Amino acid sequence: MPLRVRWFLWRARRLARRLDHAWGLEAATRRGDVAELLRLARGRRHVVELGTGPGWTTIALALADPERRVTTFDPVVHDHRDAYAALASDAAARIEWVTAPGVDARGDGVELLFVDSTHEREPTVAEFQAWRPRLAPGAVVAFHDYDHPEFPGVRAAVEALGLAGELRGGMWITHV
Ligand SMILES: C[S@@+](CC[C@H](N)C(=O)[O-])C[C@H]1O[C@@H](n2cnc3c(N)ncnc32)[C@H](O)[C@@H]1O
Repeated sequence: MPLRVRWFLWRARRLARRLDHAWGLEAATRRGDVAELLRLARGRRHVVELGTGPGWTTIALALADPERRVTTFDPVVHDHRDAYAALASDAAARIEWVTAPGVDARGDGVELLFVDSTHEREPTVAEFQAWRPRLAPGAVVAFHDYDHPEFPGVRAAVEALGLAGELRGGMWITHV
């Protein structure tokens, strides 16, 4: 993981503790999975995330590559997101924050789709189907919390879609 990303995540956690933002600390993707996601993202400049949460992974993806654009969808603007983004304002300028559900697909040529939203079967199936025509050839789709015991809907969605792939960290990775 690039040093600037580690530095950002360290400061984001420190800020969350100062703000008493327990939800942000809980909801943000674990560091190991962020590292794996950044490995997958290498060379991929057009990234979409479904489920912004506190925005830490969004910012990490933008920080890791100065040429990357990240679009992130969440129907909710969670507390303190702007404060976290202010910790990395250069990277934040390459992020489009969309206040909408992940199924509201738009744009094309997406090279990495990170699905970390409802964690439920039907909405996750619907999100993949909405984004599938918008993926670039050779794109990667990462379904977070695939094997998380509290979120059986993620695995159920991957199985319903019949997506071959592999488990890396807590993510199911499919190449399209
Ligand atoms: C686990 S958090 C995301 C964490 C974030 N990806 C990260 O790594 O820091 C799940 C998020 O999904 C959002 N969410 C819920 N329903 C959604 C939907 N239909 N589309 C997109 N996001 C949704 C929630 O508001 C919440 O912010």
